[in-house]
Amino acid sequence: MFQSYFDNKIVAVTGGSEGIGRAIVEQLLNMNCKVATCGRNSDKLYQLHVANPVKELHTQVADVSNEHDCRRFIESTIETFGGIDILINNAGISMMAEFEDTDLGTIRQVMDVNFWGAVYCTKYALASIKERKGDIVGISAIAGNRGLPGRSGYSASKWAMQGWLEALRTELMGTAVNVSWISPWFTHSYGGIVSQGKKGIYEDPSPIHEAGMLTVEETAFKILRTIAKRNRTRVLTLRGKITVWLSRLFPGLADKLVRKFFYKDNKLTR
Ligand SMILES: NC(=O)c1ccc[n+]([C@@H]2O[C@H](COP(=O)([O-])OP(=O)(O)OC[C@H]3O[C@@H](n4cnc5c(N)ncnc54)[C@H](OP(=O)(O)O)[C@@H]3O)[C@@H](O)[C@H]2O)c1
Repeated sequence: MFQSYFDNKIVAVTGGSEGIGRAIVEQLLNMNCKVATCGRNSDKLYQLHVANPVKELHTQVADVSNEHDCRRFIESTIETFGGIDILINNAGISMMAEFEDTDLGTIRQVMDVNFWGAVYCTKYALASIKERKGDIVGISAIAGNRGLPGRSGYSASKWAMQGWLEALRTELMGTAVNVSWISPWFTHSYGGIVSQGKKGIYEDPSPIHEAGMLTVEETAFKILRTIAKRNRTRVLTLRGKITVWLSRLFPGLADKLVRKFFYKDNKLTR
């Protein structure tokens, strides 16, 4: 039973007030963990407390794109619970526009949250995680393994995160800290999109509605099971694995299939 891995652990999860992060927080609380999480919106964090009235939950308003906020989140977690065993860098935002239509500020914002947010939180949590021989986890995406159209900045942020974590993993060999990155398959969640581009073709904030999409609870469960196995990296679901392997083995064919999936009549449709 992988759940025993988490017994009594102190886990910090960024972006746990909604979506996959919230499902991770709630599953961890059910596994006898002490859990800390953050988000920008205090109402959403309050709602999380209302739904989980337990003293093992610590929340802090923090924008992970702000180094000072990350430091306060990590330090307040250590102050509250005495340390951090596992850091799950989950907070993330996406985007939706072809590069030509994308403001440069959008790409910067996506990088600030998805890449720098993970870097800041890990920097301040590292000493405690080393001491407790714990885990550093990055929630990546298929887009971190295969660039996706309409999501160039998002893809870049996830590739950057993976490369940085791979380097960190190598540096920490011999310390008993496990560094890993996990790429979920498409999951029903809000998926905070920061830009729809000038063409404004997307009205629905979560425009991919495919058969085979996972619920946030399913994705959270798979993520936690992967962390407990202390794997190096994992792409979730068979479709995810096929997409990534096809891209590695037959990149030209993958270009065509990905183009076909995201475009209709030469127009980006999702
Ligand atoms: N959903 C998918 O299909 C999918 C697939 C692959 C990978 N992922 C990855 O999984 C992670 C979670 O995605 P999701 O779909 O669950 O997202 P979501 O439903 O939009 O939830 C995002 C969470 O992160 C918080 N957040 C956003 N920006 C933040 C910031 N700057 N500082 C602190 N917290 C912030 C949000 O709270 P506030 O708004 O209050 O800040 C919310 O709690 C992301 O890293 C995403 O890239 C998602």
